[in-house]
Amino acid sequence: MSDPVEPESSTPFDSARFRQVLGHFPTGVTVITAVLDREPIGLAVGSFASLSLEPPLVLFCAAQASSSWPKIREAGRFCVNVLAEDQEDICRTFASKGIDKFSGIGWKHSLAGSPILDGVLAWIDCDLADVIAQGDHDIVVGAVRDLHVAHEGGPLLFFRGGYGRLVP
Ligand SMILES: Cc1cc2nc3c(=O)[nH]c(=O)nc-3n(C[C@H](O)[C@H](O)[C@H](O)COP(=O)(O)O)c2cc1C
Repeated sequence: MSDPVEPESSTPFDSARFRQVLGHFPTGVTVITAVLDREPIGLAVGSFASLSLEPPLVLFCAAQASSSWPKIREAGRFCVNVLAEDQEDICRTFASKGIDKFSGIGWKHSLAGSPILDGVLAWIDCDLADVIAQGDHDIVVGAVRDLHVAHEGGPLLFFRGGYGRLVP
């Protein structure tokens, strides 16, 4: 006899515990930007990672509930902005909904047209290469077209629901 399939409701933890435990994994913070119909778009993302060197690929995970992600997808390209330790306010702005996120924010276009935010540590300009739906997020793969270190300095960190910086 085969083992009975466990019903989903038997998961021995709830979403609060999932968030709490996964929050013990520290991340940097990026803002993923794009332009669609001349409107700049962006959201704060901690799930950014390097994926492949040959060819050069990166990835991030976009919540399917995000209002910015469908526009980035339609734009077909995006820029990954790596936030510096003094950019917590930028992170909070781009983690908000229903506001003009670019109001009062300095930025310029990358060669491909996506916003590069003032003061970021580094930026990585990408074409959208693939989207893999998993659970309530999409894994977004970017083919790197251009990249640059803009400033030397410390990164903004996110750990256990709070912001921090590297202590030498
Ligand atoms: C530190 C931090 C990391 C985040 N990481 C992600 C992420 O990896 N993927 C994601 O979809 N949202 C992430 N978010 C949440 C989005 O920034 C947030 O839901 C934002 O309001 C989405 O706005 P939108 O509806 O305009 O897309 C993160 C937020 C914070 C503060």
